[in-house]
Amino acid sequence: MNNFTFFNNTRIIFGEGQIAALREQIPAQARVLIVYGGGSIKNNGIFTQVTQALEGVTWFEFGGIEANPHLETCLEAVSLARAEQVDFLLAVGGGSVIDATKFIAAAVAHQGDPWEIIASFGAAVQGALPIGCVLTLAATGSEMNPTSVITRASSKDKLFFNSDYVRPQFSILDPRTTYSLPARQVANGVVDSMVHVLEQYVTYPVNARVQDRFAEGLLSTIIEEGPKALSEPTNYEVRANLMWSATMALNGLLSTGVPGDWASHLIGQELTALYGLDHGQTLAIMMPAIWTYKLQQKQEKLVQYGRRVWHIEDTQPEQVALKAIEQTRQFFERMGVATRLSAYGLDERVIAEVVAKLKEHQFVQLGEHGDITPQDVVNILQLAL
Ligand code: NZQ
Ligand code: ZN
Repeated sequence: MNNFTFFNNTRIIFGEGQIAALREQIPAQARVLIVYGGGSIKNNGIFTQVTQALEGVTWFEFGGIEANPHLETCLEAVSLARAEQVDFLLAVGGGSVIDATKFIAAAVAHQGDPWEIIASFGAAVQGALPIGCVLTLAATGSEMNPTSVITRASSKDKLFFNSDYVRPQFSILDPRTTYSLPARQVANGVVDSMVHVLEQYVTYPVNARVQDRFAEGLLSTIIEEGPKALSEPTNYEVRANLMWSATMALNGLLSTGVPGDWASHLIGQELTALYGLDHGQTLAIMMPAIWTYKLQQKQEKLVQYGRRVWHIEDTQPEQVALKAIEQTRQFFERMGVATRLSAYGLDERVIAEVVAKLKEHQFVQLGEHGDITPQDVVNILQLAL
């Protein structure tokens, strides 16, 4: 096991009816900005629950955060937050709303060009407004981590930053809020949370037995419950198990002491920025292709994954690894998320554009060994067509 530091100070308030607990989490004299997306929270009753819980508190609202949130939209919220002297941000939504809120929180406190926050991957952040979250979509883990992914629409740059200053103080996770999700977003969330686990698990062995067993437990849960969320959308237990799995998949616990891959995420970000694919869709395309390309280097962990999670009994290690890749691809497809570029109307013409963007962002040494070069990305994208 590698050395590590583990820190997480986000309070999780989990369960049915917990939005009412909002009131105790926010100082009575606070000036709160409620940040939300395209309006789903106004149709499914969540906005009403939130404002009822905030009775007596001064609040303002900023709606219109888009999926894959735009820097340009966030800057409008920064202006509002400054004008109203807001001192607390409440994100009500999925990963996009929470990520946008993290950026707004840092940008309000930032002197100078806000793009520096992202260009420095968070190093330029010197402070931020406090943040609370009401999560409405189980997927990203943003509700319990220091990461934010922001798109500068004008230049098609989708990049992330990390800062302990933007970790949410608390996140309310009521599984019932996810009942109203469209099937496509349920499926994206299942794929995203599963890929988060896999990015931190299908690398190479470092004898991190606790982390491996945690990962296998989360994977088994997601594989068992994911399809049920599509067939039984109002099954509370299913939603609860998926919601907690997604949070645990990317809150820092699994990454302790182990290598991380993240090539699917970094290549996938370019696919979203250039062609508008959903985050989950990009991962379903990239992960099977990267694994196929890196079969030899990943074989030991693919075999462990295949045997323990998919119960593949073949004795030939390479066969187990190949079957594990195939099972994963089939699971994504079963969730309704296509795993080939061609299924989204994309062809080999995208390869040069994606590779050019990766080079521009200096993502030229990807994967757990840092050995995936731009030429390797060309080969991987060919496997993904
Ligand atoms: O905009 P609204 O009206 O809220 O609608 C959203 C949006 O259209 C809708 N939705 C959310 N909750 C709903 C709902 N519709 C009905 N009922 C509900 N309860 O779902 C759509 C997608 O929402 P979004 O927030 O974009 O989805 P998700 O949570 O998957 O977030 C994706 C974003 O997170 C980033 C992705 O890159 C992408 O930008 N990620 C953030 C990470 C992090 N901060 O750690 C890590 C991830 O790897 C990921 O990169
Ligand atoms: Zn992700």
